[in-house]
Amino acid sequence: MSNFVNWAKDWRNQKTYFEWLAEYTKPYLPRIILILLMDLAVTLLSTGMAIVSKNIIDKATGGNHILALLGAYATMIILTLALDMGSQLISLVLDEKFSFGIRKQVYEQIVHAYWMEIKRYHTGDLMTRLTSDAGNIADGIIYTVPTIIKLGIQFLVAFFTMLYYQPVLALVALIMGPIAALISIVLGRKLKYLSTRVQESEAAYRSFIQESMANLLVVKSFANEEYSTKRLVELRDERFNWVYKRSRMSIFSGGVMSLSFQTAYIIAFTFGAISLSSNTITYGTMSLFLVLINRIQSPIIGLAQQIPKIVQIFASAERVMDLENLPLEEQKEAVHVEGALGVHVENVTFGYEEKEKVLEDVSLDIKPGEFVAIVGESGIGKTTLIRLIMSFMSHYGGNINFLNEAGGSIPAGAEMRQSLSYVPQGNTLFSGTIRENIRMGKLDATEEEMIEALKMAAAYEFVMELPHGLDTVIGERGHGISEGQAQRIAIARCLVRKASLIIFDEATSSLDPDTEIAVLKGLESISPKPTCIIITHRLSVLPYCDRQIKIENKKIG
Ligand SMILES: Nc1ncnc2c1ncn2[C@@H]1O[C@H](COP(=O)(O)OP(=O)(O)O)[C@@H](O)[C@H]1O
Ligand SMILES: [Mg+2]
Repeated sequence: MSNFVNWAKDWRNQKTYFEWLAEYTKPYLPRIILILLMDLAVTLLSTGMAIVSKNIIDKATGGNHILALLGAYATMIILTLALDMGSQLISLVLDEKFSFGIRKQVYEQIVHAYWMEIKRYHTGDLMTRLTSDAGNIADGIIYTVPTIIKLGIQFLVAFFTMLYYQPVLALVALIMGPIAALISIVLGRKLKYLSTRVQESEAAYRSFIQESMANLLVVKSFANEEYSTKRLVELRDERFNWVYKRSRMSIFSGGVMSLSFQTAYIIAFTFGAISLSSNTITYGTMSLFLVLINRIQSPIIGLAQQIPKIVQIFASAERVMDLENLPLEEQKEAVHVEGALGVHVENVTFGYEEKEKVLEDVSLDIKPGEFVAIVGESGIGKTTLIRLIMSFMSHYGGNINFLNEAGGSIPAGAEMRQSLSYVPQGNTLFSGTIRENIRMGKLDATEEEMIEALKMAAAYEFVMELPHGLDTVIGERGHGISEGQAQRIAIARCLVRKASLIIFDEATSSLDPDTEIAVLKGLESISPKPTCIIITHRLSVLPYCDRQIKIENKKIG
């Protein structure tokens, strides 16, 4: 019974993947059909060539002229080559377009999904899904599906041609069909399992490489070079183990298939030879048969060989669909607010995991234009509260609203971020120039605006002292400048936005006290005055704030 339920569920899933694939394929269908038609023409031409060669042999043995036929044969060869090359070229371009189409769509889904949901995946895993899995799907649709149709048509054309000339031989050529069908059915499910494991181990392998490269300093500081290499080998072994198992299965089934093919060929060949000796068929028919039996049997084998690829498409489609099913932020028109924005948090309860609440029934009010410090011990939920205000979470209990200066209330949501500006905890700079980093806060920021923001962030002087100023290139995560300098650039990126609500999450933790005070004074000097929320552990900051909010024991203290 449970087997049946599993089977039914599996079948329903396959149907969803199939529909998903069909939806993706739709825009490319005309070009896929074009490739198919070109391939079909090649198939028909090659069968035509077999028939022409039959006539050449029969005419030659009968002492007739064969020049015209030879000419036709040569023309067909050239046409076949031209069509074949054309179809290869079109396939190549189409494959690239198709895989990028998937990548772009999934990339868009990722950037529009709730941050918290997407962060459950390792970036290495996301990369694997975006590159390798999307590539598998594209190759599958652009090459495998047309190949299957082509093989099917090849088979039908060859079979019916043979049936026309010699029905008995046509049926003899078919004897391996049932064996191929049986092997395919048995293999399908096992292969799907193996394909999924291959992609998962690939993701783990890539994640490890990516992470250890990004944290090379940690690897070296703890003298973990050997350990890291060992881990790399382990992950490679794990990945190779699955690749090996999958390939072994494909190769083994290919061997069985090939053996039955050989057997069937010998039987059919013997049958043909006997028919020839008893004069039931001509030499021409025998030669046609020798060509066609190949074209009847090899598509059967070819079709069976496509099964692992089809399975791979489905396994990869499942992994890509997984990302597409993530809850997306509601796409609303961005809200631009004039003046300062206050925050009204009402009975908010939230936990990253279902049972473990980080915040419980938290309420707080921050008036427009207020300058508030949020304090509390490490790990208590300060960053979490900010993430809720920024609408990075897909679900929480209670309500969060923004309050404008006129006393109006606006519900929190992704569309509000246009009016907010945030310095996240930790180093969040991109590789590239300082100018590019600051412009992320405001894409069309002018030179004056950037300089103003740098001055408020107490970063102007050090940036100007750099040999290339704003055009200084910094590495990943601010490599090449100090932690404190990186923080000040992140602050400038935040301030250039001229937002109604500014949030600093331990944004000044690496600054010396004087520079920190300079930044706070910069914040106070902004006009018109925005609302400021700063998370800090420094008591020296508190005198600059209107008041402090303490988070304690999942509540506002
Ligand atoms: N992405 C996450 N997934 C699961 N738990 C998290 C996540 N981020 C933070 N937490 C947990 O939530 C609690 C509050 O974290 P956080 O808000 O970052 O604290 P802090 O007050 O230091 O900013 C901590 O116990 C932490 O382990
Ligand atoms: Mg924090």
